Amino acid sequence: MHCTRKVTDDLIWVGADDRRLACFEGVYGVPDGVSYNSYLLLDERTVLFDTVDKAVYSVFFENLAYALCGRPLDYLVVHHMEPDHAATLELLVTRHPETKIVCNAKTKTMLAQFFPIDLTDRIVLVKEGDTLTTGRHSFSFIMAPMVHWPEVMMSYDAADRILFTADAFGTFGALNGRLFADETDFFAEHLDEARRYYTNIVGKYGMQVQAVLKKAARLDLAIVCPLHGFVWRSGFEAFVEKYQLWSSYAPEEKSVLIAYASVYGHTENAANILAVKLAERGVKVRMHDTSVIPASYILSDAFRCSFLVFAATTYNNGVFVTMENLLHDIAAHNLQNRRIALIENGSWAPTSGKGMREILGGLKNVEILDDQVTLKSALTGDQLAQLDALADTIAASL
Ligand code: FEO
Repeated sequence: MHCTRKVTDDLIWVGADDRRLACFEGVYGVPDGVSYNSYLLLDERTVLFDTVDKAVYSVFFENLAYALCGRPLDYLVVHHMEPDHAATLELLVTRHPETKIVCNAKTKTMLAQFFPIDLTDRIVLVKEGDTLTTGRHSFSFIMAPMVHWPEVMMSYDAADRILFTADAFGTFGALNGRLFADETDFFAEHLDEARRYYTNIVGKYGMQVQAVLKKAARLDLAIVCPLHGFVWRSGFEAFVEKYQLWSSYAPEEKSVLIAYASVYGHTENAANILAVKLAERGVKVRMHDTSVIPASYILSDAFRCSFLVFAATTYNNGVFVTMENLLHDIAAHNLQNRRIALIENGSWAPTSGKGMREILGGLKNVEILDDQVTLKSALTGDQLAQLDALADTIAASL
């Protein structure tokens, strides 16, 4: 049975939730599931905006057939070729031989790479500023390269002032019956997963996101339709403000992230004592054990906090593996504009501080404090003064 919702009188959400996916993109846990959004416009011509992941193809085709109600599907607009949105494209165009595929040149190349069928005769190529008129509606196309792949584009409907944003403004989490962000307490309930989605999926491409935000700022927006998560019809400006911060690598709050990797608890003990000293100085601390919390959550908090502390034991003459993975992830996501302090531990040859410094050293506008705390197996009473000094430095910098 179909499961659809109306966005407007003639725009219907025909996507689906997936609550069984263990890892989005094979790496990001999604305990609250994820939605794959697809939208069908019923104008003089019918238009489908993107398809869905293969995991939910059956409900998607049921939704589409119901919403079309026997009409032909005139156009498929492809905003993004990543298979979470395009895996069912081949099946769609096979079932709907009447459908023209509206896409840009980079998408055309990827279509040929992903699918072993010749779609050349069915493609309507568009570029920045081109328009597609479907009756009452007229769509203009906005290229959004690297938000999140090079072929990504957005569509703007001048009639109802709707922007289709592809991955941008998406959120991890199933919709659970709600479609609009204003049907939730979004900033209380979903901002953390929106941040984790943005920072991990698109966080590396802040400059490109900034470029698209500038283009979007010129548009009169009533409704914003992303490919994951909620549709926005009010309060969108507050979400854009978050995107401005995240994409410019500006901290969201004056706070400290403490991430630690500890084998037998001694490094954790030092991290805990530092957290106490910071709390006593009125500093907000967010704390994670890298052996327990997946890197995507800690990376998200690294984008959120203004000061970062990494504490790690030495392992195989380097950085303990869970911390090493986290730091490589942070470096790969291009985090900038932070101050960082390091705590290392090693019972005979502590080298984790040097290793952490090497991984983080190339980040733009990042200051790593010269004074790092070095533990030899366990914190000594004499070293409490070092943690006091570090807490003073951090508190003063906030
Ligand atoms: Fe939701 Fe980049 O795909």
